[in-house]
Amino acid sequence: MAREFTSVGVVGLGTMGAGIVEVFARNGIDVTAVEISAAAVERGRATLTGSTDRAVAKGKLAEADRDALLARVDWQVGLDALHSVDLVIEAVPEHLDLKQRIFAELDRVCKPEAILATNTSSLSVTEISVATTRPNQVIGIHFFNPAPVMKLVEVVRTVVTSADVVADVEALCERLGKVDVTISDRAGFIANALLFGYLNHAVSMFESRYATREDIDAAMKLGCGLPMGPLALMDLIGLDTAYEILDTMYRRGGRDRRHAPVPLIKQMVTAGLLGRKSGRGFYTYERPGSPVVVPDEHTPVTTGAALADGARAIAKVGIVGSGTMATGIIEVFAKAGYEVISVTRGAEKSAKVCEAVKTSLNKGVVRGKLSETDRDAALGRVTWSATLDHLADVDLVVEAVVEELSVKKALFASLDEICKPGVVLATTTSSLPVIDVAMATQRPADVIGLHFFNPAPIMPLVEIVQTIRTSAETSATARAVCAALGKTGVVCGDRSGFIVNALLFPYLNDAVKMLEASYSTADDIDYAMKLGCGYPMGPFELLDVVGLDVSLAIQRELYLELREPGFAPAPLLEHLVTAGYLGRKSGRGFRDHTKR
Ligand SMILES: NC(=O)c1ccc[n+]([C@@H]2O[C@H](COP(=O)([O-])OP(=O)(O)OC[C@H]3O[C@@H](n4cnc5c(N)ncnc54)[C@H](O)[C@@H]3O)[C@@H](O)[C@H]2O)c1
Repeated sequence: MAREFTSVGVVGLGTMGAGIVEVFARNGIDVTAVEISAAAVERGRATLTGSTDRAVAKGKLAEADRDALLARVDWQVGLDALHSVDLVIEAVPEHLDLKQRIFAELDRVCKPEAILATNTSSLSVTEISVATTRPNQVIGIHFFNPAPVMKLVEVVRTVVTSADVVADVEALCERLGKVDVTISDRAGFIANALLFGYLNHAVSMFESRYATREDIDAAMKLGCGLPMGPLALMDLIGLDTAYEILDTMYRRGGRDRRHAPVPLIKQMVTAGLLGRKSGRGFYTYERPGSPVVVPDEHTPVTTGAALADGARAIAKVGIVGSGTMATGIIEVFAKAGYEVISVTRGAEKSAKVCEAVKTSLNKGVVRGKLSETDRDAALGRVTWSATLDHLADVDLVVEAVVEELSVKKALFASLDEICKPGVVLATTTSSLPVIDVAMATQRPADVIGLHFFNPAPIMPLVEIVQTIRTSAETSATARAVCAALGKTGVVCGDRSGFIVNALLFPYLNDAVKMLEASYSTADDIDYAMKLGCGYPMGPFELLDVVGLDVSLAIQRELYLELREPGFAPAPLLEHLVTAGYLGRKSGRGFRDHTKR
């Protein structure tokens, strides 16, 4: 029989603590909520009232239930109020000495059988536990932000945590409606160990002006379906907390440079830009604690007129290639009203592409997303050709041929001879340097990357890749075209992986390394990222969909270009590829797909 918890204590009522109070009180458990001062108690109480009022306004909580929930909370200053609770969860700032002091004090104040839990994200639960005389009753209960919303709890047992305590806490998590994964005491546990390298990398992209904050965030939301971009997430976590977590992970996790906090984070913390809680971080918020972003001096002007500023007029577009991407891109341009010339390497290929475009447009008609008239008009806008000479008077060429540099370079050299002056020449490459392609022409200023995502008619994102030779006019034209296509164009530099792949694949690779180290299972790691961070798929699900060979190739490129030791492909990934386990397409990857 699991222990019944009727009263708990929460210490520290900041970003996490206030949310944790809500989780317990919502589930009928009395909470003693403790802070260091009356003012801090009031802030915590205001967070809870605000959150529950919003739930009532949205119809998610009845008024009577809200009142009952609030009545379950006893607000107090100082730890002495915790003398009779069954369990305490500590959520004070991420400093080992502070947590150790609090645990020593809790050990003195709390009844002998009480369980003492920490919500630390990265510190050693073991080191915290030894500040007490009952380390076997100390455990990590790591909630995710926002605690009332995120389903995951990481339960962290140390080598001395007693099995009863682990079982009692697992049962408690279930009662709270949470899904728990129980793991041992390692820096960052599952989710943060996979998340923070990615967040830090995103900050370094912003710091080096590789892309704007809006573009980095839009890229990860629209390209990977994440609930929020990395910089908006840093603001939600709190930059001071994120700094401490990174710093601890760097020191505890083998001094991986990717966890060494990017200098900008420390500067922002020192300047009081802590994120949502202080009203300003990477973004500016309506007021401290508010989730509403308001425009500031860095907010881009996104009106149509401003976008078109300096852009060349584009009416006629040539699309070269006959694969999945070319087919999708033809559809996208034709639907948006452009006159399209599709060029393939032969009439047979053209017929196939034409059929594929028709099939896709027909699907749109069947689903009620496109009228028959619009479908016919879109098809009527496309001319099918097998010779590049027909591109002499187009305004824009989008190349989507095989991902081989020599082929692309030869094609661009031909386009340079055939196309009229002033045409924008775009490549859809996802991994080759755009500058290599640009230098195959006499007009590198007119060359740019337009990295569409698959399937192009559905995915809303296009990465606009500027080389060091791309002109402002070409870039403005690319942005205007993306807007006219109804896509979100994000502008970035010409580096391996652009924004999305550079941020996504090292995280996937880290997940493979974590599995390889036997820290956790593929299922638990997938759960952790989905339920703790709101990812649409876990890393192993995604790797199996993308293909392990494709993922390995991208990771190798990133490693070769950036020479970051932490980017070295996981040996397990290499072995699986060598063994022919490529993911869904081969029937087996991290999981066996033949049995499902
Ligand atoms: N922010 C996140 O997204 C997140 C997610 C999961 C876990 N965590 C972890 O939760 C813990 C708290 O982080 P946070 O982001 O809520 O921090 P925070 O800075 O928002 O809040 C910490 C609160 O603790 C209070 N406090 C400080 N000393 C205290 C004391 N002696 N007694 C009582 N209260 C005290 C502070 O007044 C403050 O209100 C950290 O260990 C952090 O790593 C954070």
